[in-house]
Amino acid sequence: MKLIFEKSKQGRGCSILPPCDVPEHTVSSRVARKIPAALPSLDENEISRHYSELAKRSFGVNDGFYPLGSCTMKYNPKINEELAGLPGFTDIHPLQPANTIQGCLKVLDIAAAYLREITGMDAMSFQPAAGAHGELTGLLLIKAYHKSRGDTARTKIIIPDSAHGTNPASAAMAGFQVLNIASGSDGCVDLTVLRNAVGPDTAGLMLTNPNTVGIFDPNILDITRIIHEAGGLNYYDGANLNAIMGIVRPGDMGFDAVHLNLHKSFSTPHGGGGPGSGAVGCKQNLVPFLPLAGPGLDGGATESPQSIGRVRAFCGNFLVIVKAAAYLLTLGKENIPEVARNAVLNANYMMERIKTKLPAAYSGPCMHEFVLSLEELKKSHNVSALDFAKAIQDKGMHPPTIYFPLIVHEALMVEPTETESRETLDEAADILISLFNQAQLDPESFNAAPFTTVIGRPDEARAARQPVVRFKV
Ligand SMILES: Cc1ncc(COP(=O)(O)O)c(C=O)c1O
Repeated sequence: MKLIFEKSKQGRGCSILPPCDVPEHTVSSRVARKIPAALPSLDENEISRHYSELAKRSFGVNDGFYPLGSCTMKYNPKINEELAGLPGFTDIHPLQPANTIQGCLKVLDIAAAYLREITGMDAMSFQPAAGAHGELTGLLLIKAYHKSRGDTARTKIIIPDSAHGTNPASAAMAGFQVLNIASGSDGCVDLTVLRNAVGPDTAGLMLTNPNTVGIFDPNILDITRIIHEAGGLNYYDGANLNAIMGIVRPGDMGFDAVHLNLHKSFSTPHGGGGPGSGAVGCKQNLVPFLPLAGPGLDGGATESPQSIGRVRAFCGNFLVIVKAAAYLLTLGKENIPEVARNAVLNANYMMERIKTKLPAAYSGPCMHEFVLSLEELKKSHNVSALDFAKAIQDKGMHPPTIYFPLIVHEALMVEPTETESRETLDEAADILISLFNQAQLDPESFNAAPFTTVIGRPDEARAARQPVVRFKV
């Protein structure tokens, strides 16, 4: 397929601008472009076809089952998109006087109140634009807290090896040393290892719970107590909240700060580079350090001199928060827990259907996602998790996450989400089982799969490490 720039023809176009009715201004040469912008020139028909062609090449939740573990690719109600598209929300400017945006501030207020209740936190900030950005923000709060007490020896953040990969990266970016601790054979934190890891240099713990192997740590209260007794604070990676929302609260589990991925759990699709929202909640002890707030309702402003400052402009990605507020108000207190229950039920149903054939990495019930291991299949028939994922695409289904979490070999991580029907789950389970059988009878058939997709086997390592994402003229 040609790029839109390659389709461009000098002189084509599809806009007819009316004559300018305000005086023209010349931009100062200091800021003016030295060479004209290389914009593609196409007629409307060609543009429309180009984007239709692109859409056909991608796979989304609207195309079929999308069980991408750790990504919560659930169906998001279109009504929430429509509400976020209302001109009262889209046509505002962040520098407008606060008295002209009271309705929008009210939306922020409603979303914050609901999310405070769901997380058990005392305050929320919507500035961070993504989960990892929320992690960084939360860790900067913890750093500022220790500093404000003159406790500068606390330089280490303890992170179990079942954490999401962004956790150690965020801790390092916040200027902490990362102390990685090995999980026990049950995939949970080993309390003895944790006790030996804490000390006067412990700034805190970062925990993903449910963790990346889909397990809710049953020792959570002991874990957070050990950290608090050592003088550290607890940070909860709440990106997996879809499994627990409305049922248990990080605030009640002993956590001091949490981020939520509104673009996973609260009605904004995950991925594609955003926009997202990694809303951060914290307990009273961290409130003074929260990022600087924007204007408040009725002229109220809540800026603290101890704030870590801005982590992003204005109020973050406002329209994502509008969608979250609409989702929360639509479901209400009764149905938010129902979402979590169904997410967990669907994952367990599918795991039970599959695990008689494809080995689950951990026994026992899972939360909203589960991990399978194809280690034995790879050893016996040389069909890897990658080969398996490629073959899944020929069945019209998006493959699960592969090779993550790192602590499981030849991992396939499946997250069906609550929005899939039992029929879809059965169909997907049948596909996985039949492919597993085929892998044993005819392993060679996996070598060149997929056969039906536009792109089959790109150089995965180069595509990730040297992505070419920009057209150069
Ligand atoms: C457990 C967990 N933590 C953190 C993140 C990072 O979130 P983001 O991709 O928005 O930076 C993710 C991503 O889905 C996640 O699954």
